[in-house]
Amino acid sequence: MREPVLEVTIPGLSRHTSGKVRDIFLLDDAILLVSTDRISAFDVVMPNGIPDKGEVLTQLSNHWFSCVRPFINTHIISCDDSFIAMRLKEWGASLDTDTLAMLKGRCMLGVKAEPLPVECVVRGYLAGSLWAEYKAEGGEHRDVILHGIKLPGGLNESAELPTPIFTPATKATSGHDENIGMHEAVSLLGQKTADSVRDASLMIYEYTRIRSARAGLILADTKFEFGFHNGSLILIDEALTPDSSRYWEASMYAPGKSQPSYDKQFVRDWLLNSGWNREPPGPILPADIVMQTRRKYLEAYERLTGSQLQNSPD
Ligand SMILES: Nc1ncnc2c1ncn2[C@@H]1O[C@H](COP(=O)(O)OP(=O)(O)O)[C@@H](O)[C@H]1O
Ligand SMILES: [Mg+2]
Repeated sequence: MREPVLEVTIPGLSRHTSGKVRDIFLLDDAILLVSTDRISAFDVVMPNGIPDKGEVLTQLSNHWFSCVRPFINTHIISCDDSFIAMRLKEWGASLDTDTLAMLKGRCMLGVKAEPLPVECVVRGYLAGSLWAEYKAEGGEHRDVILHGIKLPGGLNESAELPTPIFTPATKATSGHDENIGMHEAVSLLGQKTADSVRDASLMIYEYTRIRSARAGLILADTKFEFGFHNGSLILIDEALTPDSSRYWEASMYAPGKSQPSYDKQFVRDWLLNSGWNREPPGPILPADIVMQTRRKYLEAYERLTGSQLQNSPD
């Protein structure tokens, strides 16, 4: 097991930006997304990381990007460590053994695209912010229309929807993304692009939820990002990772309440019992919680891809 990586520095390159989990470098017309082992819960990044989580996220994304390539072009140039190292050196990085070891398995090199200002969310189940909106509109008692989508009344929390739906959201620079309707997506993106990302998102979801079900996992909902590259729409960012998707254990599925998070439940339960007020900084996660969570990420990878993570034997 490797030491968790909380921050990525590459001598000779300056970091472009950091998300909650990934550190990003821009290299002319390419983008390097490096997944760290940081974990966030209740929107706060915890002070300690989950060993191997970054590698799981990158490799799982890479796996899914390959699976969906028949349907859509993606931003991926390569996730191969040696190839990426060669390119990084060309861009002026000086890569010693420690840096190479730290980067191993967690890098995704993509073409730099013009990201669309909309998160493309597909939901097959009534959970999270959609459940909150459904309840607030009185959906438990009558049919409702949410962001232009008609939903039957009387559904339980976590119920399977009659058919998967596209619920785009704005990209909030701070705080939570806001659900918007197709109507607003069209005004942000134009009709043609909005239709294209809706159709692509629904198609990718349909395909990947069937594959997830074969692994005994329910892909309740997921978020895609698209961008334009040389005039064409491509799938960018990460795809179908536990960080961008809600996976549930199918054998434990019980609608009528919120379902345990496949990957983060140990962390959430521990935090809820810790008395933490949900303001940053978060408390240090104890070693057993870290190890149980690490197991879940590795297990997700193994179940969804059918293979072991290459670089991280126990
Ligand atoms: N191929 C790409 N070209 C340009 N931008 C990209 C590409 N892939 C991902 N991005 C952008 O990189 C950023 C990744 O940020 P992320 O790590 O997800 O942070 P956050 O925690 O804020 O979501 C997003 O703004 C996403 O749109
Ligand atoms: Mg993101």
